[in-house]
Amino acid sequence: MHKVGVLVSGRGSNLQAVMDRIADGYLPLEIAVVISDKADAYALERAAKAGIKTVAIERKGCASKDEFEDKIQAALVDAGCELVVLAGFMRILSGSFVNKWHHKIINIHPALLPSFPGLHGQRQAFEYGVKFSGCTVHFVDEGTDSGPIILQKVVPVLDDDTEDTLADRILVQEHIAMPEALKLWAEGKLQIEGRKVRILA
Ligand code: GRF
Repeated sequence: MHKVGVLVSGRGSNLQAVMDRIADGYLPLEIAVVISDKADAYALERAAKAGIKTVAIERKGCASKDEFEDKIQAALVDAGCELVVLAGFMRILSGSFVNKWHHKIINIHPALLPSFPGLHGQRQAFEYGVKFSGCTVHFVDEGTDSGPIILQKVVPVLDDDTEDTLADRILVQEHIAMPEALKLWAEGKLQIEGRKVRILA
């Protein structure tokens, strides 16, 4: 079974979706460790409840960003991870960290990239007035939300939406998209050709 490490910062609903799809047999993966940069993240409780190893590594407890990332790296290697999943991890990883995990970091972003990268993808889309938004699962490269796209899910933006109702509609799709992308990865069906990710039959 492939081992993955999940990096989180907050409530961990995407982590929960992945754990649920592992538990029901859809996803042939093992979460070897959940690492949070916030010691009080609810995501850590979710993981602990499922018997998954948890580690809190806070930036403020480290002298430098290098030290912070070295600790994350050590925890991932320690747990034998082959892939890093960013599930609501709210920090930008440095180029040197990303290069250690070339094409082995997967992120979920709550907008249809390349539109609305960075923070608050849902708010950006809502304020811009687009008619459709959604979520994107992608490999991480050195840029922000700029790596090769694995899959996207589209939702309509309705006239009576608020930022919150739109975010909720997107989140439902996030919880489908991330397990789907991870399953394709676990089954060896993702082939990266430059910017493009081909999904093998
Ligand atoms: C999600 O909207 C995800 O797309 C974004 O941060 C949020 C995390 O939510 N990167 P959760 O912690 O998985 O509930």
